Amino acid sequence: MARITASVYTSHVPAIGAALDTGKSGEPYWQAVFKGYDFSKLWLRAQKPDVIFLVFNDHATAFSLDMIPTFAIGTAAGFAVADEGWGPRPVPNVIGHPELAAHVAQSVIQQDFDLTIVNRMDVDHGLTVPLSLMCGQPQAWPCPVIPFAVNVVQYPVPSGRRCLALGQAIRKAIESYDEDLNVQIWGTGGMSHQLQGPRAGLINRAFDTAFLDRLIADPQALSLMPHIDYVREAGSEGIELVMWLIARGAMADLAGGPAPRVAHRFYHVPASNTAVGHLILEN
Ligand code: DHB
Ligand code: FE
Repeated sequence: MARITASVYTSHVPAIGAALDTGKSGEPYWQAVFKGYDFSKLWLRAQKPDVIFLVFNDHATAFSLDMIPTFAIGTAAGFAVADEGWGPRPVPNVIGHPELAAHVAQSVIQQDFDLTIVNRMDVDHGLTVPLSLMCGQPQAWPCPVIPFAVNVVQYPVPSGRRCLALGQAIRKAIESYDEDLNVQIWGTGGMSHQLQGPRAGLINRAFDTAFLDRLIADPQALSLMPHIDYVREAGSEGIELVMWLIARGAMADLAGGPAPRVAHRFYHVPASNTAVGHLILEN
């Protein structure tokens, strides 16, 4: 059977992608960010996942205010890199895993979560920047990726509680897939940041640190935190952090298994207007 071996959490700051793509990753400002991922790149290479189930948010790129799915699973064979206004990033296209994605859609919808099935979607920095941080600049991404898009752009957005429960349903779905696959689940976005209004530039290190602690040790309690606390404490875009609870919900301890092992933890300010947080948990 397929099994979820680990979860990875990381911010997705678009300027990180631009720094890599334009050869600025060696500059001191960016070195301080990328060094937090040196271990992660080696770790990912050693882990050799067969599939990455990548929870991310679209930033009004593939979707718009015309159509706003709360949860959307990419079931296509491939996903093109989106043009976010200055041409697509020069990174590989994403190869999907239509069989596992269709199985997850079937199973999760039967577990009463309404997913939108997406057979065509260009993927923006929300998905490609985490891949770049974890993989560097390869000719091809190391394995197929199932993009799973969550609406955190236009309210109402899903609650932390629902995200954690969805992760549990995704775990059941993946672990009932009849093929021996090493699957990782990634939760992306965050940490504290606010991009507009009088509080633009807000960073809250104390909140972020506590969020990482609680995500590791007590995700059930963390999942009950209301949206207003994310927005107040972590800024308007800090709400992206609810997506981390989907990946966390898919870990073994939330299905009665042992607590995960913290393989890596990193936190750095600043990257653009964002605090960068990164965590690797192993089952
Ligand atoms: C920034 C961060 C984001 O999460 C995003 O989607 C866009 C911009 C930033 O810090 O610049
Ligand atoms: Fe974002």
